[in-house]
Amino acid sequence: MADTAKHLLLVEDEAPLRTAVAEQLADHGYVVEQAATGEEAVARLADFAFDIVLTDLRLPGLDGTGVLAAALERYPDVIGIVITGYGTVKDAVEVIKRGAADFVTKPFQFDELLHVLTSALEQRRLKSENAYLRSQLEARYRFEGIIGRSRVMSDLFQLLETVAATNSTILITGETGTGKELVARAIHHNSPRRLHRFVAINCGALPESLLEAELFGHVRGAFTGAVGSRQGRIEQANRGTLFLDEVGNMSLAVQMRLLRVLQEREFERIGDPTTVKVDVRVIAATNSDLGRMVAEGTFREDLFYRLNVIPVALPPLRDRRDDIPLLARHFLDKYAAELRGAGASGNGSAPAGPQMTIAQEAMRCLMAYAWPGNVRQMENAIERAVALSLGRSQIEAGDLPAEVQQAALPPPVPDVPFPDEGIDFDGYVRAIERELIRRSLEKTRGNKGRAARLLNLKRTTLVEKLKRLERGD
Ligand SMILES: Nc1ncnc2c1ncn2[C@@H]1O[C@H](COP(=O)(O)OP(=O)(O)OP(=O)(O)O)[C@@H](O)[C@H]1O
Ligand SMILES: [Mg+2]
Repeated sequence: MADTAKHLLLVEDEAPLRTAVAEQLADHGYVVEQAATGEEAVARLADFAFDIVLTDLRLPGLDGTGVLAAALERYPDVIGIVITGYGTVKDAVEVIKRGAADFVTKPFQFDELLHVLTSALEQRRLKSENAYLRSQLEARYRFEGIIGRSRVMSDLFQLLETVAATNSTILITGETGTGKELVARAIHHNSPRRLHRFVAINCGALPESLLEAELFGHVRGAFTGAVGSRQGRIEQANRGTLFLDEVGNMSLAVQMRLLRVLQEREFERIGDPTTVKVDVRVIAATNSDLGRMVAEGTFREDLFYRLNVIPVALPPLRDRRDDIPLLARHFLDKYAAELRGAGASGNGSAPAGPQMTIAQEAMRCLMAYAWPGNVRQMENAIERAVALSLGRSQIEAGDLPAEVQQAALPPPVPDVPFPDEGIDFDGYVRAIERELIRRSLEKTRGNKGRAARLLNLKRTTLVEKLKRLERGD
């Protein structure tokens, strides 16, 4: 079971109005977070997929239009509602044009706001997504099929553009599934070597002797089983790019031979003393810590420095959650198109059909999960979800793998033993309450108003609970 409450971000600089609206919304079942400035709102949007963003139009600094744009850019399905001043119809028309679902005019009755929210939620269920916004996103946050909008990824795109043109050796590091091979291919395709081959070899998949023969090639009779002569991968990559995957898994002997290739761009085939000259660009990748291997003596230090000329570190997905909505959308488009294509095979072109979307609730699960298998694991999860959602136009939280669904749930109740005579239910509940309240007050240094907000409770409710806990009933 996932969390189905509606999450709303309220952006309003007038504190009394903001608190009052937040409290009433909370009473109506919304989970509300408050931001006093546009900048604060944008920061919150980076790591949480709200269902609704309710923002005042006039704010000091970044205004409501800016908040709306930032929200829609990340989550084209988010509902944006703008609070405008009295008599500013022109502003209202403008925000609708920019993608807001609706607006309310100050001063407003709470019921009016509630009505706007309810009908916008209803409308979103019916409406398919804004294809225009989607196409714009695609172009801005990608480099040769690498998707990303987080700070690290934008910096990476810039670095790739610069280094692609050079011949420098590159060492790509990152956990499994972070896109190391994807990056290596992108570099090759943006380099002047793109007309020649990109040759990949997985150094971890072969035993030492085979790896050596694969890399350097051999002549007939060089070793038992060498029936013919064979060109090695290094030669095949001449004038192109050689991708040494899992480079940390090579034996010290192969490391030494490879060092020479990097230093002199020359080598000998196995069983043949003739020196072969090559012109290759080397890109290596690893998910081991080569620095540590050097310290432990399992990786040659000189080779490490030869490889690590331009280090490219790909951070795990959990450290760049800001990329998750965009990646999810990218894979959704990919697999939804495949599905349509498969359905239409035999009868010509695929039916256009409505674009598939991801429920914000499902997005919250995607953003909360730790993704030990990084982008690859997420791609698989989306592919599976698309298959399970057959016939629906939206991915729901229930379409995601169980462990991903659970990520967005509050942490489980601490381990409570159940003796035969039963437990003190009220006592346990009070203890949990007391602990949550204690932590919220600790975090806000005793400020009851802010503590109540952290707990999504009314201040009066918090004060009431505090009194009760003090009384011990
Ligand atoms: N930023 C990204 N944008 C789009 N697709 C990505 C991105 N990063 C990874 N992928 C996709 O995720 C999958 C795994 O990527 P890749 O094979 O490059 O990972 P890797 O780091 O080489 O993993 P491993 O260490 O397990 O070999 C591929 O399908 C790739 O296209
Ligand atoms: Mg790989």
